[in-house]
Amino acid sequence: MTHYYNVEAVRKLFPVVEKMTYLDSGFQTPMSTPVRRALEAFIQESYETAGPKSVWIDRMEETRAKIAALLNAAREEIAFTKNTSEAMNIAANALPLKAGDNVLMIHGDHPNNAYAFLNLKKKGVEVRFIPMTEIVNADSFRAQIDANTKAISMSYVAFHAGHRFDVESVGALCKEKNLYFVIDIMQAVGVVPIDAKKVGATFIGSGTHKGLLVPQGLGLLYWDHTRTELEPAYLAAISLENPPADFIARPDNMAPSFTAGRFELGNFNLPAIQGLSAALDLINEIGIEKIQAHCFDLGDGLIAGLDELGVKLVGPRDRAHRAPHIYVAALPAEEWIDFFASKDVRVSPERDGVRISLGMFNTEADIDRFLLVVKERNASAGRTTTAA
Ligand SMILES: Cc1ncc(COP(=O)(O)O)c(C=O)c1O
Repeated sequence: MTHYYNVEAVRKLFPVVEKMTYLDSGFQTPMSTPVRRALEAFIQESYETAGPKSVWIDRMEETRAKIAALLNAAREEIAFTKNTSEAMNIAANALPLKAGDNVLMIHGDHPNNAYAFLNLKKKGVEVRFIPMTEIVNADSFRAQIDANTKAISMSYVAFHAGHRFDVESVGALCKEKNLYFVIDIMQAVGVVPIDAKKVGATFIGSGTHKGLLVPQGLGLLYWDHTRTELEPAYLAAISLENPPADFIARPDNMAPSFTAGRFELGNFNLPAIQGLSAALDLINEIGIEKIQAHCFDLGDGLIAGLDELGVKLVGPRDRAHRAPHIYVAALPAEEWIDFFASKDVRVSPERDGVRISLGMFNTEADIDRFLLVVKERNASAGRTTTAA
């Protein structure tokens, strides 16, 4: 297998791998030593010197710049949120949609994206779902666009079978038809490179507890800052361009910030943001393309192993259409998930099987262990194939 980076050294930063075969980064990543240290540093500073907060805010701005670089965006285009759902809701409610308008989405895409838009039913906005096929690109949406279509919202990578949709062609279609384009990158970020400008996104939302390696409760939002007509549904002092210096709110001068700060509300999850900074340093040190290439290679090995065992892969096989790090084996989850747990193999149950999801620390040995557990159970049960 090609050696893109020192995986063994990275592995040492994720001590969970000593206790189990961790193949569940699509659910959440285990904590790494650099993130733990950053969180501990926050606790110590808070405990001993109460920050000061201005130091944490300065670090937050550095982290914002790192996120911007990751997405090929400007610092002013990045807001911190609580999670993906909040980012999607901010986006859905900022779009100037009115009764009779419609938004196109993919049927079966993540509900945290879908509900943000389905909730606009109250305003008379309709969500139209296109089918989820192995390939989703501009052609999948084109025929569904009519005069009332105003936006497309979709995931980059599907959580339940690892589809990697063609967001670039969909972005080009949105440009051609003058539609807003919203992307949920929760399952892609940290493993698949994303260029906000190249895909022509209006908004991009994500949480940070998967590929960005920090615990739950922090998210991010990219906003194309040329879209100044998009205003926040909620407002706090921090969302304003000129918050009152005397802290007395007045109904005048309520113009939203010129930056993505217009979508931010109140105080921030500063410890998690400090953790995110350390996580981004780790990702940048390795290089996201290398993480992607490593996961693709592991995935090739997994697919070949599943083929050998006669276990069907759910979702796309081809690198052009699959995510590097998310695979679903057609093993009935209710029969298998406890068994994997009993063998210290951590995977997730999914709609059509068992999801194996990879992170920067996984190795061929992890894949081999997964395949061996399947093989041994099938052999002891006298099964030759478990394909659905
Ligand atoms: C595509 C996608 N979007 C969103 C989420 C999660 O949403 P949130 O960050 O709001 O918890 C997940 C998984 O947890 C996901 O796979």
